[in-house]
Amino acid sequence: MSLSEKIKQLRQEFLAELNDAVSFKDFENIKVKFLGKKGPVQALMLELKNSSPEERPAHGKQINDLKVEFIALCDENLSRMKLREMDERLSQEAIDPTLPGRRHYLGRMHPVMQTMDRTIEILMGMGFSVRLGPELDTDYYNFEALNFAPDHPARDMQDTFYLNNEWLLRTHTSNVQIHTMEEFSPPLRIVAPGRTFRNETISARSHVFFHQLEAFYIDRNVSFADLFATMDEFWSKLLGEKVVTRFRPSYFPFVEPGLEVDVRCTACRGKGCRLCKQSGWLEVCGAGMIHPNVLKKGNIDPEQYSGFAWGMGIERPTILQHDIRDIRMFWQNDLRFLSQFP
Ligand code: PHE
Repeated sequence: MSLSEKIKQLRQEFLAELNDAVSFKDFENIKVKFLGKKGPVQALMLELKNSSPEERPAHGKQINDLKVEFIALCDENLSRMKLREMDERLSQEAIDPTLPGRRHYLGRMHPVMQTMDRTIEILMGMGFSVRLGPELDTDYYNFEALNFAPDHPARDMQDTFYLNNEWLLRTHTSNVQIHTMEEFSPPLRIVAPGRTFRNETISARSHVFFHQLEAFYIDRNVSFADLFATMDEFWSKLLGEKVVTRFRPSYFPFVEPGLEVDVRCTACRGKGCRLCKQSGWLEVCGAGMIHPNVLKKGNIDPEQYSGFAWGMGIERPTILQHDIRDIRMFWQNDLRFLSQFP
């Protein structure tokens, strides 16, 4: 076979393989196979030495042209494949800028916790320290040490969740008073927020658990006047305006005298409205001078020290602030409700 024929045949072979190639890898293999050091083009080059000196330049040119053509065809296909593969990848990764964005929801503080935090903040500003007490406690801390007589109705099974004869779920945050007195000596200025439990029928107005905040102050010469002044100051700060307070005598076993504290209705300024049930006043907390028996239980000498305490629910001021009609909504974890409190 003459060299020209060999070249022609090789070219045909090459074009046939090129025709069958589909992927980038195929074209790469063809390039290596035909143009590699041990490939057929190189083999033809080696055969040049068999050509006569007259023919050699022409043959050399033919082989070289073939090589140039092969390289050009391979490279052209390789870059075409590269572009196609990139196009494919880009179309797979394509984003649709017309899609609506995904909304990110912000967590929010529960409205009851918001009230609690604000209350604590005010009291800390007045020199009180936060102290937490146990939700699960004994009859002693919840009742007995707080001067409840053994037959006091609050101890009744109907109000209190008992676990057994001794253990119960605290019915108020006043249990923190005794725990604190046992551990620290006066002067004491304590605020104790937390969850409390009572065995009541669940309705729009009451629940089996709720939140209270207890605050108390024990030192030498703490007087009734201090309690009044503290109430005025505290409730004004919490309700955001100078409030009018009213004190009514009331009974709690652990205080003497005991009081019920009202503030003049912030919605109608005492004229009477739905919020204050036409009375012009809002009941906000129980308070009083700590009973000497309670101080004694806490190893504090009532001859030397005196103190006052008050206890307030957290749900009620929250309800008043936001005009919430059903206390159960607080604990249903319904985002339609909860997301309304920024
Ligand atoms: N512990 C009382 C209650 O739950 C509130 C209170 C606290 C009253 C402190 C007086 C003094 O109703």
